[in-house]
Order: sequence, then C-alpha cells, then structure tokens
Amino acid sequence: MRYIFDSLVIGSGSAGLTYALRMAEHGQVGVVTKRALEDCNTRWAQGGIAAVMDPNDSFDAHIEDTIKAGDGLNDPEVVRICVEEGPARLRELMELGVSFDRHGDDPTKALHLTREGGHSARRVVHARDMTGRALMRSLRAAALAHPNITILEHRHAIDLVGKRRHGLGGDDRCLGAYVLNAATGEVDVTLGRSVLLATGGAGKVYKYTSNPDLATGDGLAMAWRLGASMANMEFFQFHPTCLFHPEVKNFLVTEACRGEGGVLRRLDGHAFMPEYHELKDLAPRDVVARAIDSELKKSGDPHVLLDMTHLPAETLEHHFPGVHGKLMSLGIDMRRQPIPVVPAAHYCCGGVHTDGHGRTSIPGLLAAGEVAHTGLHGANRLASNSILENLVMGRRAALISGEVQSSVDEALFGQVRNWEPGYATEPDEKVLISQAWKEIRSLMWNYVGIVRSNNRLRRAMSRLQVLRTEIREHYWAFKLDPDLIELRNIVTVAELIVRCALMRRESRGLHYTLDYPEHDDANFLRDSVIKRGLLS
Ligand code: SIN
Repeated sequence: MRYIFDSLVIGSGSAGLTYALRMAEHGQVGVVTKRALEDCNTRWAQGGIAAVMDPNDSFDAHIEDTIKAGDGLNDPEVVRICVEEGPARLRELMELGVSFDRHGDDPTKALHLTREGGHSARRVVHARDMTGRALMRSLRAAALAHPNITILEHRHAIDLVGKRRHGLGGDDRCLGAYVLNAATGEVDVTLGRSVLLATGGAGKVYKYTSNPDLATGDGLAMAWRLGASMANMEFFQFHPTCLFHPEVKNFLVTEACRGEGGVLRRLDGHAFMPEYHELKDLAPRDVVARAIDSELKKSGDPHVLLDMTHLPAETLEHHFPGVHGKLMSLGIDMRRQPIPVVPAAHYCCGGVHTDGHGRTSIPGLLAAGEVAHTGLHGANRLASNSILENLVMGRRAALISGEVQSSVDEALFGQVRNWEPGYATEPDEKVLISQAWKEIRSLMWNYVGIVRSNNRLRRAMSRLQVLRTEIREHYWAFKLDPDLIELRNIVTVAELIVRCALMRRESRGLHYTLDYPEHDDANFLRDSVIKRGLLS
C-alpha cells in the first residue's frame, strides 16, 4: 500500500493527537500507531499537568522551579513559552470534555491542584491519579470523530524516508516512513507533506521501568538513522517510587503521594530524606532517586517504603483510587501498610533536537513530546512538565506546518521506492531476539543507571557494539517483525545514551558519575549534541 497525507503523524499520545486535531482543520492527516490508538505513554500518566492555574501562583515561580530542576541546561525561552501557554492549553482540554478534579463536585469550583517534587506551589492539575487516561479518552474521541483523520493502528514505523538516505538527491528532506502493517505483514510506503514524530519515550531500554512495553525509543532511533541532530541523551530520569513486586514490574506510585504527605522510610522505619535535601520527600526527582539508591546500597535491602498510613483513609481512597485499587488487587492496603518501592527508569529528557516549534535539523521532519529535546527540561525534568510540553509543542508544531508543507516537491513522492524485502527469510530462532533484549536492558540498568562511572560506561559501550552488529545481521537476514524492529531501536537508543554519558565528564542533573562528581561549568554548561558520524 502507498499512502500520501498532508500531515503524517507517527505516534498517538497527547503530543501526536494535539497536533493531528489542529492539522485536520487544514488537510488530510494520517496517524500511524503501533498498537491500538489509545495505547501510548500519556495514558499511563498518573500525576497530572503542571500549569499556573491558581491566582496565588505565578509564571515566574513555575519558570524558576523548572530551571532549578534543569540544573543549568534549560532553554529559558522554551521554558517561558511552555509555562505561559500552559493555562490556555488546559482550558482547551476542558472545552474538549476533560474533567479535572475540583474542590467539590461542582464544575464551577476551583481546580484541585496537587503538589509534586521540585514545585514551590500546588500547581499540578489532575484527574484523580488517572490523568493520562482522562486526557486520552477525550483526545481519542475527537480524533476518531474527525473526518480528516485516518487512524492506522497496529502499524510499526520501521524507518523514516529521507531524500538523501534513499538516494533521491539534492537537499535533504523527510518524506514519510516505511511502515509494517502487523495484520498483513506488508510494508507500506506512508508519506506526508510534513512528518511529525510523536513516538514517546524509551523506558524499555532499562530492565526496570515505569513505562509501558511500547516505550522502545522508535522515533529516537529512526531520527538518528536519518541523520537528525540528537541532544542530551545522557539525562534519563529515574522515578523514585515504582512498586517493588515480584510479578508487577512497571507500576508507578505517583509522586503526588508524597505531595499529599507520603514519607519515604528505610525498612527499619527511619525517614531518610531530611538528610539529603531541605525539601525532604519533595526534593527534585534526581535527588530522591539517588538518595534511595544510596540507602539501598548501604543497607543491602531490596526496596524502601513509601508510608502513607498517617494520612486519613478517605483522602487516600479519594485522591488515589487507581494506585489504591491496584495495590489492593495485589494484597497491599496503603491505608494500613507502607508501600514497597524502588526507583525505575521513567523519562528520557534528551531526544531529537528541535526548536520551539518542533522543527528538527531535517527539513520536513518535526518532533514533539518525549521523543523531542526542546530545551524545556534541561538536565532534569520537573514533575508533570511533560504533558504540558506535549500540549504546547503539539500546537506550536501545527502553527508552522503550513510553511513546512508548502516547501515540499510533490514529484518526489512518486520516486520513493517500495520496500525491498531482499532475501529475508522467516526468523528461525526467536530466542536470539529475546536474549539480546534481556542483555541490553540488564547492562543498561547495571552500568548506565542512577550512578555511573567511566569504567561502567565503557564496558556498556563495548557490549552494545557487539550486540548492535549481531542485531544488524539478524535484521538483514530475517523477515521483519515488531520485536525485531523494536530491538534494533532499543540497541540504538542505548548506544546514544552511553555516547552522551561518556561525553559529559561532569555530574549534572540526572547524570551522576563517580569519576566526575562535581559540575564543570567551564566545559560542560552546554547540551550534548550528536549527529550520525559527528560529535559536538
Ligand atoms: C507521577 O505521577 O509521579 C509522574 C508524573 C511525571 O512523571 O511527571
């Protein structure tokens, strides 16, 4: 099959659908998504959306908190844009039908704002502890109802189509993507006058993550292969409190629990956060995750505890029905027992380098959401700033897409060749794929985790290079399937993280290395920008 859209969107989370809904006012939009439409990272967001919605709060305070968390690497202009445009994007969501918590059931009552680490005020708008679900319900319904939006579900983007990469000569431009249709096994040529990457994050690169299985860094790897500039991949955020449970591996216990008074304790009951930061349990995430890591290393315990038992049972039931319900199903009653928690990989602060309108270094290719590096987060993302960024940047990318689309030479679409399967045969040993997956995730956890060192990073790099060669051989020899596509992307993203981490010979934000434990502003107060074949 061959599709040509005005706007091609890869990914169906809040960034992708915000953009798609706006672009559908001007032309035909195709949304490619590798699972069902509602399967995306946004859907799992518990906490909420940071925005200045209280007259006692201020843009300046939100900007200051974001920059403090970002440890010197935020782009101040992008921070200002996201913070100042946040309230308007929130109001649009409410007009679309998203119902956020208020002080009481009356919709005219003020919004209930919760608090999370690093915020100097209550500023997190939420729908109980299932904000992502509420948001996606409305965005999905609007997208499905729009006559100009075509949803292509269960389609795995394999590679972006680029003029240079695919031998079409002249200045480079992204024209679309080769996309595997999981139902037919065919690879479709899916083209767009503009292409937005909104594929989310890459938590699955680590053994323990809060992310759903689909977070395999597909957009990051595809953009890299096309030659786009990437930035700050070393800054991978670890969420301090994921459930520690033998079977349930990726259940997040929202930071709003600490915002409402939850306390972290060692297994002996000692509350340790006051020893690490003046904001105690509400310190920025990098500080809390490192504190837990250090306590676990000292004690040898497998987890710490998040204690909410001193809070009224009704508060917990009312604010955290999602967390409470899930824990009850596992036999843990958070009203009476502290919750066993550990840090886990949560958010990729780096990504495809973009400007404040989502333009990447490749004409025709835009990026928004977790896949993009806009400069909002710097070296460490402030809690609940990510959906804010998705909404703001999804809209801002739409504002300039008319200009992007008008520069395309449509004759090129006819020159894009069909996918060549070559001599690929059916894969005979799936164990090769599952074993490589395990190796990558476990070496990333052990060598490229919360605390790093030169030795560990170099070891990780040499193992990853061997794995990449093996995966490449497998990729060309066998017919593509979703697991192989994701594995090829995961190994690429792992390597990008390690490359950036090796370049940054200092500790800053989420990148902490034993060899350089201090900041080095003279040499490293800048983004780590890398491009295929080029380091800077
Ligand atoms: C949480 O609810 O703790 C996650 C919020 C976020 O990562 O921004």
